[in-house]
Parts: sequence; C-alpha cells; structure tokens
Amino acid sequence: AFPVTPEEAPKVGDAMRAMQIRGLNVTVPHKQAVMAVVDEVSPEAQAIGAVNTIDHRDGRLVGHNTDAHGVLASLREDGGLQQLPACVALLGAGGAARAILYALLAAEEVERVTLLNRTVARAEALAADLRAGSRVTVAPIDDVPSMADVGLVINATSIGMQPEADASPLGDGSCLHDRMVVLDIVYKPLRTQLLEQARSVGARTVDGLGMLVHQGVRAFEIWTGVTPPANVMREAI
Ligand code: ATR
Repeated sequence: AFPVTPEEAPKVGDAMRAMQIRGLNVTVPHKQAVMAVVDEVSPEAQAIGAVNTIDHRDGRLVGHNTDAHGVLASLREDGGLQQLPACVALLGAGGAARAILYALLAAEEVERVTLLNRTVARAEALAADLRAGSRVTVAPIDDVPSMADVGLVINATSIGMQPEADASPLGDGSCLHDRMVVLDIVYKPLRTQLLEQARSVGARTVDGLGMLVHQGVRAFEIWTGVTPPANVMREAI
C-alpha cells in the first residue's frame, strides 16, 4: 500500500510511468481525483464518476471502476441472487452508493430503487446524474417508507463502520423482514448492527468482504488477463 496525500495525488500518474508500475487499485479519498491523472477513462468509470483501478498499458494510463462488478458478484455468490429482485432499497448517496446505483440500474430486472439518504438533495442529484428517471424514488433515511415489497437492502452509508460501529442506518431495523437479502458493504467491523438486525428477523445477510474481494478480482483480471482464485483472496483477507 502507498499512502498518498491529496496534495500528492496528481503526481501518481508520473510516478507510475517513472517506476513502470503496471497497475494500481485506488481507494478513499482518491477515486475522483485520479480521474484527472489518467489518459483515458472507461465508459463505466465515466458514468460512475470514480476510478478505482488504473491499468498502465503501452505507456497509457486507463482508469476503470470495478466496484459495480464487485457488488453484483458478491450478491450472486454470497447472497444467492442470480437475478436481482424487482424492488431494492439503497442507503447512502456518496461515492460507494454511486457505483452500486449504476450496477442496479444496469440490471434490467430491477424495476424500482428507493434511494434513502440523510441529505435528500444529494440523493436527488445522484439519481439525476445517473439518469435514473422513474426507476428511482428518493426519501430521507430517518423516515423510511414501507419495505414490504423490497427484496434487497444495501447499506452504502458509513453508519455501522468504526467509530460509529454500534449504530444502524435503519434505526431499530423494524422495517426489515425475512423475504429480503441485506448487504452491508461496511467491512470494519464485519458484523454490523444492521446485519445483526437483519439476522434477527431471518433475512439473508451479506457482509462487505465479497464486494471488496470481487472488485479486486476484476482489477487483477484487467491487469493480467488472468482470473485469480477469489476464495484464496478471501481467506487471506
Ligand atoms: P463513500 O465514498 O464511502 O460513499 P461519502 O461520499 O462520504 O463516502 O458518503 C458517506 C455516506 O454516508 C453518505 O450517504 C452520508 O450521508 P450524507 O450524504 O447525508 O452526508 C452517509 N452518512 C455518513 N454518516 C452519516 C450519519 N451519521 N447519518 C446519516 N448518514 C450518514
């Protein structure tokens, strides 16, 4: 890992060239800033508005985003969802929520996404930016509408992450039920309050490890053309 300050982030492209670094995975808080240091941004990363993987090929730096792939792979593998449910609730409107909403909108079977956030205007801006149209409804996260029809809940807020580890983004979690899958992309800690609430009502739970692993799997494929063993990566983490 190379810890890089925001001031130094614009130099990362030159550093990769000078040191002939073949690829980098990029994480907080640099996913937006590195869009300016690459020569080309993939259509997916452009739509998401963030780059988490840089591929250095033939002297050119190409920015990709593998988070959308990561979340779908985790939902398939850990959530048992070969197809996504028609109604999904997505919590959060930051960088992580952006990649996830992109993935959800790309899945034709998803008819309706309820986007819940503390700052409603930020959620509205995200939905408009991804041209979600009538497929997305925005609501405040502290006034959750009925989730009776919701088959999948995804937490992409930082609530539940250290140092806010004893909080749930859904208050007492009374809107959860046993016909839904609940994914919390937080992986520190792995057992979040939200997942405990989901478990207690009999919902299927998915923690944030799978998305972390699978965004890395896809990045490795981009760099090498080889699919790495995801289970070995997961064991190592
Ligand atoms: P990331 O890139 O990891 O998604 P981010 O862009 O800072 O991080 O987004 C954090 C998300 O968690 C946002 O949706 C944020 O809500 P706001 O848009 O209203 O800021 C949400 N969040 C963080 N702390 C929160 C809290 N204490 N209560 C409610 N929402 C919170």
